[in-house]
Amino acid sequence: MKFLIEKICCIGAGYVGGPTMAVIAHKCPDIEVNVVDINPLRIQEWNSPDFDNLPVFEPGLSDILKKCRNRNLFFSIDIEKHISEADMIFISVNTPTKTRGIGAGQASDLKWIEASARQIAKYAKGKTIVVEKSTLPVKTAEVIKSILQTLSSSNKYNKQNSKKFYILSNPEFLAEGTAISDLTNPDRVLIGGDDEEAISCLKKLYLNWVNEEKIITSDLWSSELSKLIANAFLAQRVSSINSISALCESTQANINDVSKAIGMDSRIGEYFLRAGPGFGGSCFKKDILNLIYICNNYGLDEVSSYWEKVLTINDWQKNRIIKIISEKLFGTISGKKIAILGFAFKANTNDTRESPAIQICKGLLDEGSFLSIYDPKVHINQIKNDLATFPYIENSSSNHSASWESAESIEDAVQNSDAMLILSDWEEFYNINYKILINKMRGPSWIFDTRNIINLDEAKKSGFNVWALGKGNLI
Ligand code: UDX
Ligand code: UDX
Repeated sequence: MKFLIEKICCIGAGYVGGPTMAVIAHKCPDIEVNVVDINPLRIQEWNSPDFDNLPVFEPGLSDILKKCRNRNLFFSIDIEKHISEADMIFISVNTPTKTRGIGAGQASDLKWIEASARQIAKYAKGKTIVVEKSTLPVKTAEVIKSILQTLSSSNKYNKQNSKKFYILSNPEFLAEGTAISDLTNPDRVLIGGDDEEAISCLKKLYLNWVNEEKIITSDLWSSELSKLIANAFLAQRVSSINSISALCESTQANINDVSKAIGMDSRIGEYFLRAGPGFGGSCFKKDILNLIYICNNYGLDEVSSYWEKVLTINDWQKNRIIKIISEKLFGTISGKKIAILGFAFKANTNDTRESPAIQICKGLLDEGSFLSIYDPKVHINQIKNDLATFPYIENSSSNHSASWESAESIEDAVQNSDAMLILSDWEEFYNINYKILINKMRGPSWIFDTRNIINLDEAKKSGFNVWALGKGNLI
């Protein structure tokens, strides 16, 4: 049978669903795209007249929304209506790591996927292509398929016997901060499935802006597994280079030089070789935990312990940074003020999920520091959530042990501080005015640069003591 796609519905208006649907709407002006979410506040924010306050910050996103929103792109809480009218439905809901029950701490919680599948079974009409976008443990498409098949074969949900579902896996490889360019110009588009017509229908959608040779197809399970493995490999590279950053510090080598030298080997490649405070983001840890869980399930203990080490190094890197700061500041940071520059898990996003800043800030607070936190895009309420157990102090004029304040700018954050700690690589942190800042701080004034972005000569000339990751003590 031939499919005609006139209306798309996406369940989940998050970091993946929102930008992905915005780009589809932009590139396919003849298709109506409806993004639905169970969270009314999120939908309200997506519909906000103030394009600077969208729930997701991504460079280029607001420009697309200005063109498409309320033209062929709509954000709504009317899940029933939009599922029932859609020819194609994307599932882009969150799949957090389970906190209790079987697989707790490792397996993904599929309750939202199941809820979405049930909604689709109930409200969809006619023949519908269901596209799995969420990152999932292998064989989740089977779960969706089985729910849809079971429910649609029951009289309760399919009275006229008119419903038929075609399940595809179409993992999203976008990285936050570059989502719009990743979506507009993807390295590849992967479509997994077993129905040729459904696959070619989704392929046709992408052909509106992606070259055919970049669109690859596979069976459902290979597609799901590929997404998990891509993330595991990327995370592994970060842990590998982070492990070497410690060796460089101990042996007086320079991590930037090492990264450059190995990255120029075309077999290794230059990407994902930047040492840092550890990887964050919603996917890497969750996906590796999933991989570990799957391997354990299949009795592949050596494989699972191999991947566990990627997470071990990631945690170790964060803890080691906390220890180094404490050691450099004469062995105690209790009552000392530390300016935190960057709280998002990387630059150009307002997302803090699994941000290394959370663990590092908590560690510093546990040691009794007073933190002044500045991030160009992260909302203070998000930081309050992330540091929940530690008191937030408003308009503080003095230091309060084991508590934190929010700063409006770099200058504001460093006022009377003993150190500044750079945790994310926001553009404005590259061009710090060291001469001005050092006069606002207490001496000896320290810079701890976990992203290797500062101008070392300038910083030292201005009188700073500097520790840079992978370079050791550069006083
Ligand atoms: C999510 C997953 O975390 C990731 O693994 C996957 O690759 C893509 O989808 P993200 O978009 O970043 O990523 O998640 P999030 O920003 O939390 O958005 C999910 C949205 O789904 C939320 O707005 C939530 O309210 C919504 N949701 C959840 C529904 O609309 N219905 C549900 O039943 C559950
Ligand atoms: C990742 C994948 O890149 C993307 O394909 C997938 O769809 C979702 O997960 P994301 O988490 O948004 O994307 O960002 P990414 O750029 O991959 O960075 C992840 C973490 O690794 C960040 O904390 C980043 O700072 C860190 N990182 C990345 C490094 O420390 N060094 C590097 O060289 C690269």
